[in-house]
Amino acid sequence: MKQYIIKGGHPLVGEVEIGGAKNAALAILAAAIMTDETVHIDNIPDVNDINVMLDAIAGIGGHVRRIDRHTVEISGNRINNVSIEYDYIKKIRASYYLLGALLGKYKHAEVALPGGCNIGSRPIDQHLKGFRALGADVDIEHGKIIAEADRLSGKHIYFDGVSVGATINVMMAATMADGITIMENVAKEPHVVDVANFLNRMGANIRGAGTDVIKIRGVQRLHSAEYSVIPDQIEAGTFMFAAAATRGDVTVLNVIPKHLEATIAKLAEIGCEIEEFDDAVRVVSKGGLGSTHVKTLPYPGFPTDMQPQIGVTLALCSGTSTITETIFENRFKYLDELARMGANIKVEGNSAVIEGVKKLSAARVSALDLRAGAALCIAGLATDGFTIVDDIVYIQRGYERFEEKLQSIGGIIEQVETERDIQKFKLKVS
Ligand code: UD1
Repeated sequence: MKQYIIKGGHPLVGEVEIGGAKNAALAILAAAIMTDETVHIDNIPDVNDINVMLDAIAGIGGHVRRIDRHTVEISGNRINNVSIEYDYIKKIRASYYLLGALLGKYKHAEVALPGGCNIGSRPIDQHLKGFRALGADVDIEHGKIIAEADRLSGKHIYFDGVSVGATINVMMAATMADGITIMENVAKEPHVVDVANFLNRMGANIRGAGTDVIKIRGVQRLHSAEYSVIPDQIEAGTFMFAAAATRGDVTVLNVIPKHLEATIAKLAEIGCEIEEFDDAVRVVSKGGLGSTHVKTLPYPGFPTDMQPQIGVTLALCSGTSTITETIFENRFKYLDELARMGANIKVEGNSAVIEGVKKLSAARVSALDLRAGAALCIAGLATDGFTIVDDIVYIQRGYERFEEKLQSIGGIIEQVETERDIQKFKLKVS
């Protein structure tokens, strides 16, 4: 089993380059199959989830050419199958973006139904509501969603809850529907805007992405495009909280500071100094950090994907902080791991009350999901002693060269696989 071993107790200091946004890239890759021409996409993060999406695209006959670690060319002209198997969905839920892409392009798509996951039950009723509104017959048979239509027609769709996935999936299908679709109560996340910009670059006619209402005038065909994915605000935020928790001084490079406003606001509230540049943000944490209250919300609110990272930081800030998780019901499980490291936390329903402690103590913990895993690494880095984080495959699904980037700013962390590796690391750093 791959693990990280961490020798904590050193402030992280330096500059770290942030990669392309995984969640934007996943949807953009799916959307790329909607044209028969070749699409060139840059700033793709080299992480496992992206590789699964590329495999899923190749699996239905899409042509995928990896030009380098962060650049890929995709052509959907030889797609010969509109069915995405459970193997892909099981590995990454976001393969369901191929549902909207295939339905829009071929008016027929079959995708295995995703189940729940470690952070919650995650229904997809709003995606299906949107496809049905566009005129598709949507059935669930033998664990598969089957969506079919003779033609898709633009409609007025009101979403019952704000969903990033439903907004993007239905937007893709509506791009190639006849007439005008108006989608209300949509998600406003930066990656929703990025996918809309990419589709527009391919010839779609989408207006309003980034607001509550998106208006789409359907087009018959899409064409080739070149596109560069936006920087990953969650990767950036993770390093920013790592700076705060270790009382360090870290500048994240190649970011869009506007996308980081909620994170910046919370770091400032607990007492970090923040410097914003055109495409970089510096976080200086000189110690003596205080408490705050956090509620996860759709963008521009505080992101649920950053909740574990701020949770770990607040566990090390003086005073009483609270976190209310309003998006995913199971996202507090990492707090049990953190309690094993000496954090003082009480969870009641979807709220956690955190009494800051001066120090956490190193322990062996488990990465329960992608962001929780990254957060526990931050805890390890902020702790004297040796922390072992198990199940790091979750972390590697979404963070490119995580340990290397942490090493580059002074983190003492290595990937290990055996007890011998662990002993070697301990000897080396002691
Ligand atoms: C995306 C992100 C994920 C992030 C989440 C919220 C990707 C690949 N993943 O997930 O990292 O944590 O946004 O910012 O981009 N819901 C329904 N019915 C639906 C769809 C969603 O009830 O049809 C609920 C969900 O259970 C959840 C809330 O809506 O409570 C938000 O989910 P959603 O925005 O759809 O998250 P994802 O797109 O799955």
